[in-house]
Amino acid sequence: MAPRTTIAEISRYDGQTVTLSGWLYNKTHKGKLIFMMLRDGTGFIQAVIFKDNFTETFFEELQRLPQESSIKVTGQVRADKRARGGYELQASEVDVVQMAQEYPISPKEHGIDFLMDQRHLWLRSSKPHAILKVRHQVIAACREYFNNLGFLLLDAPIFTPAACEGTTTLFETDYFDDKAYLTQSGQLYMEAGAMAFGKVYCLGPTFRAEKSKTRRHLTEFWMIEPEVAYCDLDQDMDLAEGMILHILEQVLQKNRDELELLERDISKLEIIKRPFPRITYDEAVQILAKSGNEFVYGNDFGAPDETVISEKYTSPIMVTRYPASVKAFYMKNDPDDPQKALCVDMLAPEGYGEIIGGGQREDDYDTLLQKIKSHGLPIEPFEWYLDLRRYGSVPHAGFGLGIERTVAWICGIKHVREAIPFPRTMSRIYP
Ligand code: 4AD
Ligand code: MG
Repeated sequence: MAPRTTIAEISRYDGQTVTLSGWLYNKTHKGKLIFMMLRDGTGFIQAVIFKDNFTETFFEELQRLPQESSIKVTGQVRADKRARGGYELQASEVDVVQMAQEYPISPKEHGIDFLMDQRHLWLRSSKPHAILKVRHQVIAACREYFNNLGFLLLDAPIFTPAACEGTTTLFETDYFDDKAYLTQSGQLYMEAGAMAFGKVYCLGPTFRAEKSKTRRHLTEFWMIEPEVAYCDLDQDMDLAEGMILHILEQVLQKNRDELELLERDISKLEIIKRPFPRITYDEAVQILAKSGNEFVYGNDFGAPDETVISEKYTSPIMVTRYPASVKAFYMKNDPDDPQKALCVDMLAPEGYGEIIGGGQREDDYDTLLQKIKSHGLPIEPFEWYLDLRRYGSVPHAGFGLGIERTVAWICGIKHVREAIPFPRTMSRIYP
């Protein structure tokens, strides 16, 4: 029996006969030959079916075999520079595992809504494949970065009693005789973790009832959130910068094929170097003013503003010290300018906008209590959080990186919905 292998491993078998198990991606035929593009999840390879090696009826059956039929192909591996992946298979045996029904996604162009309705099948195509492999690498690189620095992975709960990021985007659920919210961020729990373990991070889905239909917003998105005890804003920014550089290094090393398939201009990622520019909110407002933008001082930046601000730079930039009034209740105020928060947003280049939000946390009990009240939040669900300031409070900081926005930027795709396997937006919860 021929050894079973995968397309990713095929180069080890040049000249030998192997069996590949996969699906028929597409095919063409010409005279006595059928060219089948086979995919097995690890790659794509062309299998050449020569009529004389099969019975007449079976050859005809293969000619009619629908796209996405599951098949096992045994054949000799042959290096061929012109072939996708550099190898071809000269088939000697084909085993049809299941003959597929007529497949809805044909190789021609389809609209995005149709493809999203077929997302469970569209995952098999090369573009989603490339993007989701980059996503895998982004997540692996983040975890590796924090693990190497001695952080502890501490999972945050999904059901929570309290709002972390404002009350307007909460998803409320029945929780027996009570109610609970789906978490908007694991941060508050990571603060508890930082006081227990020093350096922690969580990685998981977070939920926001975003009513905005933009290319940057999902209702369910993934965040990685580190939190560090005895850490200030500058050290927090060093940590964020190091993480982005590690992600880029790993993706550029391991996902070149995917980035090429996506036609990403890789040079725009390769020029990104330390240090990333660090500017204040006030300096960012000046950039907007110089560009003729009618921005009202004191507001938060909108997506078009972020584009104008980041356009001046080739690296991601870190914008600090926004007005405290546009930021969450837990931010520490800048002692040198109490109207400002010790916060940071990282804006990706090329107009991709905010990928990280974070900063130094309010560590004083009385001030924090006051902030919870002035944000109109109920005290009771935050009692446990206030305990962190009652018992051994220290300066601490952290941030959250949005996985989908980061993947969209690195892949150079416009919309975050393609950066997650099964996107959830205001208008989509299927499939
Ligand atoms: O800036 P945000 O709201 O910060 C927090 O949630 C902090 N509690 C994180 C922390 O300090 N631990 O969100 C962080 C990041 C954003 O920069 C963005 O990348 C992403 O999460 N994000 C979204 N991504 C997709 N869809 C949405 N609706 C998003 N909202 C935020
Ligand atoms: Mg933010």
